[in-house]
Amino acid sequence: MKELKILLSNEKNTLDLGANISAHLTEGLLIFLKGDLGAGKTTLARGIIKSLGYVGSVKSPTYSLIEQYEFDIFTLNHFDLYRFTSPNEWFSSGFQEYINSYDVTLIEWPEKSAEFLPKPDLEIELSYKNESRIAKINSFTEKGNKCIENLS
Ligand SMILES: Nc1ncnc2c1ncn2[C@@H]1O[C@H](COP(=O)(O)OP(=O)(O)OP(=O)(O)O)[C@@H](O)[C@H]1O
Ligand SMILES: [Mg+2]
Repeated sequence: MKELKILLSNEKNTLDLGANISAHLTEGLLIFLKGDLGAGKTTLARGIIKSLGYVGSVKSPTYSLIEQYEFDIFTLNHFDLYRFTSPNEWFSSGFQEYINSYDVTLIEWPEKSAEFLPKPDLEIELSYKNESRIAKINSFTEKGNKCIENLS
């Protein structure tokens, strides 16, 4: 278990944090992305997905609820649960099937289904600080620790 706080002065810093994390992703990793509307969760996800080599545009899953990206070594699932009206939509949508020991999963708004989600390896909470953002990163597993060990 580790905790880090990082100042993200601008959008590029958020994308770079994503790039940094993406270099250490391992199979089955689960990351929660928390924070108010517009805090930068999708931007961080975009930083991760782009630096894994995805060349298209990384869309917010606000309406689709999930976007999937196929990479050589794993599939990355990007969820946004903001539009859930009840926590058990996680099950009624069949989303629990997507979480397994080989794919990587990012979940925006995990609070919307908190009691039904597995425990994450990493939780990144973004908050506003004037025009910038602060990232508070908590790691709960050894795999999570690996992703953040070279950050400060
Ligand atoms: N470190 C930063 N400093 C300032 N602006 C930032 C920073 N990181 C991201 N932004 C900006 O914040 C805005 C909102 O970002 P984003 O869509 O990623 O938020 P979100 O948390 O996913 O919102 P939602 O809850 O609606 O899904 C974007 O315009 C992005 O450029
Ligand atoms: Mg978003």
